[in-house]
Amino acid sequence: GKLVICDHPLIQHKLTFIRDERTNTKEFRELVDEVATLMAYEITRSIPLENMTVQTPVAQTESKVISGRMLGLIPILRAGLGMLEGVLKLLPAAKVGHVGLFRDPETMQPVEYYIKLPTDVQERELIVIDPMLATGGSAIAAITSLKNRGCTQIKMMNLIAAPEGVAAVQEAHPDVDIYVAALDDHLNEHGYIIPGLGDAGDRLYG
Ligand code: PRP
Repeated sequence: GKLVICDHPLIQHKLTFIRDERTNTKEFRELVDEVATLMAYEITRSIPLENMTVQTPVAQTESKVISGRMLGLIPILRAGLGMLEGVLKLLPAAKVGHVGLFRDPETMQPVEYYIKLPTDVQERELIVIDPMLATGGSAIAAITSLKNRGCTQIKMMNLIAAPEGVAAVQEAHPDVDIYVAALDDHLNEHGYIIPGLGDAGDRLYG
């Protein structure tokens, strides 16, 4: 899938303070929420429209509305929850499925500990949400889980990605487009994105 870097000036500005280690939990949460909303604006840019006839006070005209599409948002716990509300601000009708994954600190392998999806998830166009795409292990596991349950239309949205993680997701799931606010330099030996922002889950929730 394609990699889209959402580098709107507002996103870049806020991301700088998300990275800054001096940013406290309250500010960090607010900034992540705001960037998620701005990214949702970019990710919905290609949503198909259809015509509707509308009567203005002075004339009748054809005008556009979003065609009745079914969306699903899939935050990866924990850190994905930090972006969920921000995306829901623009997509309030979306249903939400939760996938809980953690990385085993020894092996870096993702472990799925929770999954609960909307009943009609297969019919929905899904956006998997996670602030960090590091090795890509969590994203690949989450997307595989969704596909095993019959989901076919999947996009991915991350604040920050490492090139290694993008390549891994693109190889494992070539049908999935990835939207990021920034593509960082590399992963360190502990699987942390450099320069990154540290551990998103810890900075959001402690
Ligand atoms: C972080 C992050 C991603 C994952 C990315 O979660 O939020 O889910 O790691 O790493 P990967 O691409 O190498 O899989 P973490 O395991 O720290 O869990 P948390 O969100 O509950 O803190």
